[in-house]
Amino acid sequence: VTTTVLGRGSLGELVERVQQLHPSGRLAVVTDHAVWRALGAQVGPTLPANAVVAPIAVGEAHKTRESWAMVTDALLAAGCDRSTIVIGIGGGVVTDLAGFVAATFMRGVPWVAVPTTLLAMVDAAHGGKTGVDTPAGKNLVGAFHPPTLVVVDPDSLRTLPAERWRDGLAEVLKHGVIADADYFERTTAMLPALLAADGPLHDGVPALIAESIRIKQQVVADDPREDGRRRILNFGHTIAHAIERVSDYAISHGQAVAIGMCVESRIGAALGITPASVVQAVEEGCARAGFARTVPATLRHEDIVAATLSDKKAVSGSARYALPEAVGTMHRADGAWAVGAPDAVVRAALS
Ligand SMILES: NC(=O)c1ccc[n+]([C@@H]2O[C@H](COP(=O)([O-])OP(=O)(O)OC[C@H]3O[C@@H](n4cnc5c(N)ncnc54)[C@H](O)[C@@H]3O)[C@@H](O)[C@H]2O)c1
Ligand SMILES: [Zn+2]
Repeated sequence: VTTTVLGRGSLGELVERVQQLHPSGRLAVVTDHAVWRALGAQVGPTLPANAVVAPIAVGEAHKTRESWAMVTDALLAAGCDRSTIVIGIGGGVVTDLAGFVAATFMRGVPWVAVPTTLLAMVDAAHGGKTGVDTPAGKNLVGAFHPPTLVVVDPDSLRTLPAERWRDGLAEVLKHGVIADADYFERTTAMLPALLAADGPLHDGVPALIAESIRIKQQVVADDPREDGRRRILNFGHTIAHAIERVSDYAISHGQAVAIGMCVESRIGAALGITPASVVQAVEEGCARAGFARTVPATLRHEDIVAATLSDKKAVSGSARYALPEAVGTMHRADGAWAVGAPDAVVRAALS
């Protein structure tokens, strides 16, 4: 069971909370260099003297087996043993990697997720999926290993670059589309305020994070190993993962998810599942958040179609799509919650 703590200033009490939960553990902090520059001063002084800090290079391109090996080796070199508690402080790249290090270190040690991007606060840090990318695709190597504790401090969003803040809004919109029409309405209405210069510090942000976490946790609780309904969390992601990979990760996860939701809604419309009004609502939401709704001209559609076929959720060579029937309701597909689409339909939806 994962405990979730959400509150302004909770970063300052992080170490104390971890030690309450795991009184005798040796602490190993996994982070990236930019996050540690921004937030290390708040955490570093509270760490015990024998704690290890292992920072990785910044960006999706470093969510790799090489970074996993580097961090693991740093822990081994410092003499970390089975009593180690891994603390991942950073965006989704860091939490995915830290969780995977924890899943494999000494055959598995506990870990604590401290998401510092909006995207990781509402999505990546919850649900227990951990892992790394390989040249063959995203998240192809990993483990289900839920953190024991998630600590979310909305104040840490203060230092987040504007584009990364926007990335998280894509997953927030996704949560509305897949599970809660009312949440979708309220968040799209809030977008102008959220996109203002002080958007991350807006009064409504902690409640918004809390609602998104609730939606994600509910979906995951019903289907922890993704045998069925959890697949709705992949809305937009079959196309998004292909875009990220074909762009060599130049397009961020959040931007790719926004484009992916628009493309997949159009796929849903072509298959007679998604009404035109829903396609319009998704496209409008993404546009209001400042996202593109089509694939950048620099990427070849053929490459994207090809990349979807090697997605790990593909079934016998055919990509699968979780598709909305209404805002707030996903297509059940007889309990599979995802359907295949002919390449020609995907190609048409990309334009
Ligand atoms: N496990 C899951 O269920 C799940 C769900 C959604 C996404 N993900 C993964 O999450 C990753 C994307 O996460 P992300 O968008 O957070 O990327 P990220 O971890 O690369 O963070 C984005 C950038 O923001 C910087 N940063 C983070 N926090 C900061 C702060 N408070 N102040 C200043 N700079 C800060 C980072 O250094 C980085 O440059 C992808 O790899 C995706 O696959 C996983
Ligand atoms: Zn995502």
